Amino acid sequence: MKRIIFIAFVISLSQEVFGQDNTYNIMPLPQSIKPNGQKVRVTALFTVAVIGNPGQRVYAEASRALRRLDQRVGFFFKQGFITAKDYSLKASLLIDVKRPAELKLNEDESYQLTITDRQIKISALTDFGVIRGLETLLQMLSVDASGYYFPGAEIQDFPRFPWRGLLLDVCLHWMPMDVVKRTLDGMAAVKMNVFHFHFSEDQAFRVESKVFPKLTELGAEGDYYTQEDVKEMIAYASQRGIRVVPEIDVPGHATAMIKAYPELASIPREYELQRYYGVFDPSLDVTKEYTYEFLDKLFGEMAQLFPDEYFHIGGDENTGKNWENSPSIREYMRKNNIKNAHDLQTEFNKRLLPMLTKYGKKVMGWDEILQPGVPKDIIIQSWQGGNPYYESLKKGYTSLLSSGYYIDLIQPADYHYLVDPAPEDATITDEQRKLILGGEATMWTEHTTTETVDSRIWPRTAAIAERLWSSQNVRDVEDMYRRLDIISLRLEELGSTHIKNKSMLMRRLANGYNTEALEVLVDVIEPLKIYQRNQGDTMYTVFSPYTKLADVATPDQRVAREFRKHVSQYVKSKDKTLEKNILDHLLLWKGNHSEFLKLIQQSPTLQEAEILSENLARIAQVGIDAIGFINGKQIPQSWHKESQLILQEAKQQGGRCDLQVTTAIDELVNAVKN
Ligand code: ACM
Repeated sequence: MKRIIFIAFVISLSQEVFGQDNTYNIMPLPQSIKPNGQKVRVTALFTVAVIGNPGQRVYAEASRALRRLDQRVGFFFKQGFITAKDYSLKASLLIDVKRPAELKLNEDESYQLTITDRQIKISALTDFGVIRGLETLLQMLSVDASGYYFPGAEIQDFPRFPWRGLLLDVCLHWMPMDVVKRTLDGMAAVKMNVFHFHFSEDQAFRVESKVFPKLTELGAEGDYYTQEDVKEMIAYASQRGIRVVPEIDVPGHATAMIKAYPELASIPREYELQRYYGVFDPSLDVTKEYTYEFLDKLFGEMAQLFPDEYFHIGGDENTGKNWENSPSIREYMRKNNIKNAHDLQTEFNKRLLPMLTKYGKKVMGWDEILQPGVPKDIIIQSWQGGNPYYESLKKGYTSLLSSGYYIDLIQPADYHYLVDPAPEDATITDEQRKLILGGEATMWTEHTTTETVDSRIWPRTAAIAERLWSSQNVRDVEDMYRRLDIISLRLEELGSTHIKNKSMLMRRLANGYNTEALEVLVDVIEPLKIYQRNQGDTMYTVFSPYTKLADVATPDQRVAREFRKHVSQYVKSKDKTLEKNILDHLLLWKGNHSEFLKLIQQSPTLQEAEILSENLARIAQVGIDAIGFINGKQIPQSWHKESQLILQEAKQQGGRCDLQVTTAIDELVNAVKN
């Protein structure tokens, strides 16, 4: 054991000194990689050519890939924007494509990438295959003492699932076009292919309607996408092989629509946009013809604006309370023998479906739209997972999993990574298995602004992208994290602010340039997970400052994660190199508290973090003592009891964050023999 750890250490150190071979650092991992031992040097003479029958996407994406490559290697390549005139069978990178892709579900995305010392070749049926292959190639760029190279290999690759999505909610917080574009860039880098555009909510309606202009005039407070913006977004996504699926969430989560057009309301009164987060009672009056006329016109307009064949109608979390409280709706239900809100929503869905079919759309919605009598050609997106998900499959509905992929909940990447849309042990038939389209990560933006959204999406979503693309048996968590740390830098280069904004947020929070003591703390804390951050849904509104400790802190802290790993290895091996590394951290944390107290003097906002800093220093001392005892120092009688108490106290939150190294210290304490 000791030997293996030692070798691993030497390898990781030598990688830092002598470079890095990225043959196996790809994310998502391809279906098959066969290295051939060759190395293709990247020189200033590197060229790209396209043969076959490409669409315009291929030239634009090949040109973008060439720029991304020169940005990394620093050569002044001769080629600018690649066109058909660059045709040459001798190019360093030859792209061979059979036909342009169609932007639709189940389009072929497979490719073959061959890297030999004669040439790099990407062969694909469609330009989407080329685009996926280019991402793989860029990720393989490696370096050694002689410079940059591509490691020789033959790669055969194709996605496990055809639907690999990311939902971006642009309502709970406004996300302007540059956020959308950099998100699309990141998605393409990890081969995701559906951007689920959630633009209608209780807090806002954010796409311009020319038919119903009040939707944004009264429902967006100035922050919305014009139809030109939407077209630009769709073109940008299409260029990267990403579909844009729009969602208009009805009949619940629709307060913004109701504020703009109160005629839609179940209870007649004036409405305001919701400022808090959660589930609210306002709901469309689905018993009025006006509502159907309105939706018919709105869907008709939006169906034209969004070319994708799928249209998402939401359908989630309609409480039904405003229906029960409306005398006219109660009367309608009585007359039509509709027993409850559930059945009324079924009636509503049954009328929406032909409406959208008329506009050439297939319908999808959340679990709740799955009710008796709903036609089989809809897609159910399961945010609930478990039984509702499997019931949907068992009833024969094409389904998509989002439960387990809620990245807004700050859970670690390994949790999401191990959630499988089609687990091997699921008790479903082969036919039912075939109905599984894939999954979607969901980025709800309650507590997320333009400054923090990237750190909530990336790099964790890359792990979900791998689950949805790579073979089911790619499940090694440690290897995933190793590659995730590498891909994180690649995502940053593409424009994601998930690393750099953290420094800015820390400077603001520390009220100056000196953020050292804050950084030491932030490296070992995470925001409270699931829905604990927002107690009772009443701590935050859309106007709250999302610039505090819990916003600076990010999920899946690398320093804490590495520390926990090292401690687990150390308690088994008692390896001295690991021990020194652990002690260095413990001494840093112990000494940090006095520095942190000085920082609070100039940044009162940080007072809420004092308890965390103090507890970190206390558990660090416990860890230092534990290592002393492991090494044979005399153990005081009451030490075990006292250290348990300190560890217990260190579990409390501060600034809506908690420490991520208490379990590791606990492990050290447990390694001390009584
Ligand atoms: C949802 O999370 N209500 C779709």
